[in-house]
Amino acid sequence: MRPKKLTPDAHHNIHFFNEDCITGARKHIADNSVDLIITDPPYGINGNNLHLHYNRNESLVVDGYVEVPQSKYEQFSFDWIKEAERILKPGGAIYIISGYTNLYFILHALRQTKLKEVNHIIWKFSFGVFTRKKFVSSHYHILYYEKPGGSRTFNVESRFGLKEESDKGRSKNYCDREDVWGIPRQYKPRKIKNKNELPDDLLKKILQYSSNEGDLVCDFFLGGFSTARVAIGLNRNIVGFEISPSIFKQKIGEIEMIMPGELLSSLNVPTINNPKNQGKSWSREECVKLIERYDELKSEGKLKKDIMKTLQEEFKRGYWSIDKALKKGKNEIL
Ligand SMILES: C[S@@+](CC[C@H](N)C(=O)[O-])C[C@H]1O[C@@H](n2cnc3c(N)ncnc32)[C@H](O)[C@@H]1O
Repeated sequence: MRPKKLTPDAHHNIHFFNEDCITGARKHIADNSVDLIITDPPYGINGNNLHLHYNRNESLVVDGYVEVPQSKYEQFSFDWIKEAERILKPGGAIYIISGYTNLYFILHALRQTKLKEVNHIIWKFSFGVFTRKKFVSSHYHILYYEKPGGSRTFNVESRFGLKEESDKGRSKNYCDREDVWGIPRQYKPRKIKNKNELPDDLLKKILQYSSNEGDLVCDFFLGGFSTARVAIGLNRNIVGFEISPSIFKQKIGEIEMIMPGELLSSLNVPTINNPKNQGKSWSREECVKLIERYDELKSEGKLKKDIMKTLQEEFKRGYWSIDKALKKGKNEIL
């Protein structure tokens, strides 16, 4: 929309271009200026029945969706991924959402850049198509890569504190950071939508871990503008491209209604209870007290895991600090 070339200092800016993302990026986005790219390119599956694997009701897909012919997919992937590499800041990250049909070409293009793989994530969704003679296809691939040369943002406790446990005693943080994500597609019955509109929960997760408020996020293939909508809602800056005039026209009005930061209150707030004495060195008296208390609890017949829990609370220190002090204390004091 605005012809100004984005620079690395662009702040609090929102720019959408009804253009091809490859020529558009060259024209509008400076080298090393973007913190995070989240994008899902067209899948190149026109002209066959592969869309059925992804359970798409094509009659409810917005008019004007531009596909890339299979014969051009390899060069197309290479060209836009080269642009993505150029505009990312060193330390910036890219998440590419892809089906398996043309995954090969995307991986091949990524390998011809300097971008480095961080994770290959499997996004498992619900509503795969029922089949009788084979397994049901119910996943997409998310390729998480970084541009080397800088410090990559990864907000490890942005959603769950490292010490938060589920009712079953499992670490919520660990589970949230496993590389298989079970996130349902957003159910929008009978609503006209773009192919593969990404669910808010998936976008929030990526944005929380891999960006901060005020960062510049880019989507090369805006489609239904989901990435843009959630990014603005979380107070990020955004630049994006959509080649289709009809989709662009339809969605641009909706996006203008979003208030920057309006989704921040919907985020899960982590409980971060860092022990009060974390990082302080142990005095001799404290060590003696710790060993006495350990022996006392043990003589009561308590299990090691319960003893450690009690000691963490009483001595306001983490598990490993107590474990180390017990071993060291027993060797050096007793
Ligand atoms: C899979 S959809 C993106 C869906 C989007 N992530 C969402 O949540 O709604 C891909 C989009 O890329 C657009 N597109 C295809 N070729 C393009 C190009 N060369 N430049 C920009 N957009 C393009 C298509 O029209 C389509 O809307």
